Amino acid sequence: MPPKVYVTNYPAGDFRAMPALGDGRALLKWVNSFPGNPARGLPTVSGVVLVSDAEDGRLLAVLDAGAVTALRTGAAAVLAAETLGRADSETAAVIGAGVNGRAVARTFLARGRRVVLWDVDRDRARQAAAELDASVADSLAEALRADTIATVTPGHELVLVEGSLRPGQHVSLMGADGPGKAEAAATELARAHLFCDDWEQASHGGELAHALAEGLITRVDATELGAVLTGEAEGRRSDDEVTVFDSTGLAIQDLAVALAALDAASSFADLARVEL
Ligand SMILES: NC(=O)c1ccc[n+]([C@@H]2O[C@H](COP(=O)([O-])OP(=O)(O)OC[C@H]3O[C@@H](n4cnc5c(N)ncnc54)[C@H](O)[C@@H]3O)[C@@H](O)[C@H]2O)c1
Repeated sequence: MPPKVYVTNYPAGDFRAMPALGDGRALLKWVNSFPGNPARGLPTVSGVVLVSDAEDGRLLAVLDAGAVTALRTGAAAVLAAETLGRADSETAAVIGAGVNGRAVARTFLARGRRVVLWDVDRDRARQAAAELDASVADSLAEALRADTIATVTPGHELVLVEGSLRPGQHVSLMGADGPGKAEAAATELARAHLFCDDWEQASHGGELAHALAEGLITRVDATELGAVLTGEAEGRRSDDEVTVFDSTGLAIQDLAVALAALDAASSFADLARVEL
């Protein structure tokens, strides 16, 4: 999986080309992020996922990139929280109740966590909470008291200013997945135990890029989550430390979700044939 390539048209938005190869399939996700779109009744994230046979190059499927992205973003945020958070964590706060925030909340709920939502758009938070069977925080400060936090905002303003986090908390930073975006103050990152999905991507277009540019962290300060999952690197070191996961989004995660969707689709096709 090579790092994703950005084609930017700021301040309107950006496009990303994300290729990956695995399990006999090749994938390309052509996806974008246009933060002003909800005001126009359009989604922030949209595009297509192409899946081809890796042996003969045949195009096998075209999938909706918004749906694939939401499923894998929810999975990545919660996998990081379960891997790095304290074992006694109960509550999860999701900040930003848009398309991908709701996907993260839905995944936490599916894994048995209590979820509280916060969004600057209070109606959106209330609507999402009713839809998902979650609760709504009265303030950002209340949401930030949860054991685990996932931020899924456009990253235009800081959600975690300096001094926001308390010992033992885990944060999955999902929203700031491109150049110029940030959800956490660089100084707040510098006092946490840092993890990312992919250093190459995170050091150029993710949350960690700011702290790196300011000289507050170096390469050795951030561990890739995959290395923790395979047992090559240490995860949380104590109950008191703050763990932070910076997600930029990986094409290989999209490939895993796309293949699961294709498997499910072929079972439906089999069922349909049986009924005929
Ligand atoms: N890391 C990843 O893999 C990944 C995957 C998908 C999307 N993203 C990024 O996540 C962000 C959100 O995507 P989306 O599709 O959910 O967008 P969306 O527009 O559907 O939702 C964003 C929500 O954040 C809310 N919000 C804005 N500023 C806020 C603040 N300061 N505090 C609380 N809430 C705030 C908005 O009201 C809105 O409800 C985008 O920046 C997108 O690029 C990252």
